[in-house]
Amino acid sequence: MHRLKCIGVLTSGGDAPGMNAAIRAVVRTAIFNNIQVKAIYKGYQGLISGEIRQLYTDDVSYIIDRGGTILKTARCLEFKTPEGRQRAYDTMVREGIDGLVVIGGDGTFTGARVFGQEFNIPIVGVPGTIDNDLYGTDSTIGYDTALNTIVEAVDKIRDTAASHERLFLIEVMGRDAGFLALNGAIAVGAEAAIIPEFATQEDQLERLIQNGFHKMKHSSIVLVSESDTTGGAVGIANQLKERGFNPKVTILGHIQRGGAPSATDRVLASRSGVAAVDALIQGQRGVMMGIVNNKIVQVPFSEAIKDEKLIDKHLVDILQVLCV
Ligand code: F6P
Repeated sequence: MHRLKCIGVLTSGGDAPGMNAAIRAVVRTAIFNNIQVKAIYKGYQGLISGEIRQLYTDDVSYIIDRGGTILKTARCLEFKTPEGRQRAYDTMVREGIDGLVVIGGDGTFTGARVFGQEFNIPIVGVPGTIDNDLYGTDSTIGYDTALNTIVEAVDKIRDTAASHERLFLIEVMGRDAGFLALNGAIAVGAEAAIIPEFATQEDQLERLIQNGFHKMKHSSIVLVSESDTTGGAVGIANQLKERGFNPKVTILGHIQRGGAPSATDRVLASRSGVAAVDALIQGQRGVMMGIVNNKIVQVPFSEAIKDEKLIDKHLVDILQVLCV
């Protein structure tokens, strides 16, 4: 087996709390195994332009508790072109990097899959995204922290909603996945979640209206996925206004991506980062480190990026039962 001498680590796509903990684990595990490790800044963009430097154990001291990513991140269009990937490969050869750990979401792994196959490079992935939308893993790094941020914010909105006896529509992130909205709704005791995975937006809205927003005498909180399928909180508010309701809209936005990672995310990131380097050492490639039933598993990139991670229908039922 070819012995790895130097690996590169990068973060790509939207940042997620816990990415720094994952970087720390990758760096320390590489050094522990006498492998050099180089930081690639700004995701695939830095691989193309050569923004790279060697990392040492001190470089990742005191970052386990920090949100964002010390490596910076970007969504890189150039990497989608063969010319861009050729330049990225040239950088790797020049820098003597013979394996990569990429930390990010589906876009990151889509790029990694093509790049790894094209140039026969060992690449492994660590799932870092608040959306929790990667197939083959129970959770992604950053999801738990984002969920806790949603809970903290919505608990505050509940105070004012209850005082004024108002209906609030609170839009949360997740792209086309409803994990944050649905589990957030259960965690805050919301009256409903409008998510893209189940029923049409009209059906969900209709059911809410027929129920008369049960808790209207005190307050009503509805979490809405940002997805186009739901129409977002503003779209739903407009429809409700046409039916005589007077909803308030809050869009939580990028606050959901920031902040110190939760203990759960720090542990997940640490385990995944160690597993990623171990996988490279063992000659693995083209796989993401997932977690299933609290065990780290290796998921082929082709599986991880298929748009099929299902929401547990039981959770929707639970939410309905709990808000009668
Ligand atoms: O993928 C993470 C995420 O925060 C999504 O939930 C959201 O739709 C998107 O990124 C926002 O991306 P940007 O910060 O580039 O606008």
